Amino acid sequence: MTTSSSERGVSLGMPQLPAPAYPDDVRARLETDAREVIARYPDSRSALLPLLHLVQSEEGHVTRTGMQFCADMLDLTTAEVTAVATFYTMYRRRPSGDYQVGVCTNTLCAVMGGDAIFETLQEHLGVGNGETTDDGKVTLEHIECNAACDFAPVVMVNWEFFDNQTPGSAKRLVDDLREGQPVQPTRGARLCTFKETARILAGFPDERPGAVEEGGSAGPASLVGLRLARGETAPARVVHPRDGGPHDEPQHPAHRPPTAEHPSSHDAPQQTSASDPAHPAGPAAEEGE
Ligand code: FES
Repeated sequence: MTTSSSERGVSLGMPQLPAPAYPDDVRARLETDAREVIARYPDSRSALLPLLHLVQSEEGHVTRTGMQFCADMLDLTTAEVTAVATFYTMYRRRPSGDYQVGVCTNTLCAVMGGDAIFETLQEHLGVGNGETTDDGKVTLEHIECNAACDFAPVVMVNWEFFDNQTPGSAKRLVDDLREGQPVQPTRGARLCTFKETARILAGFPDERPGAVEEGGSAGPASLVGLRLARGETAPARVVHPRDGGPHDEPQHPAHRPPTAEHPSSHDAPQQTSASDPAHPAGPAAEEGE
């Protein structure tokens, strides 16, 4: 699937028609929401980021209409709004799926299996980076580090974490999303759609019963340093969910304990490039040796 420059929201210098207006009822509803957001800030322009999430929650991506709306509400130019909307990757500039599946292919996740997961999902879903399945359910993209390197390789769906993934678990995850099965992230509340997520990011309450209580926290691997700083003994090895234990009960097929067919990525042999013969892999010498 290829996209033209206009589909990507990029102007090649041709004058554009004015952005179409929201229907009156939609505009009135969004204005009410926007005023509530703007009132939280001493300077109205500080509300631009949440307002972009708000318009994204309406249409699933930030349209020219949405940017015009933000400019109107905040007394900004559309150029100022566009500069922000195109800078941050959390704002989508073209129609996408209900679930944004982001595979971290930054350095650590990549070598721990992120590259293999991304390639597997591209083949399994039949889409490339930034593309959406024909059923409109899943948009696949590779993402940069999400500060969850201790759970590498990480997959995020609508910004919720799925830790220690493998190509097999990631395939089961996207299959469940497409089939409408309930999906529980490794850490955090159960998934909602991208539009619903965008509204929460705009600063409105998560009204799903029990969702706030399900909110995630740091996982055990992230807390090792804190435990050591407190003088506590850290576990010899912390890998979620492979090790079992009370925190590691499988909540979802994507998070089953590994079997021989589905080893954790930490156990699975990875296909990595051969070492440079001039610098063979091996134990590094201690300082001073
Ligand atoms: S490299 Fe993937 S979360 Fe940091």
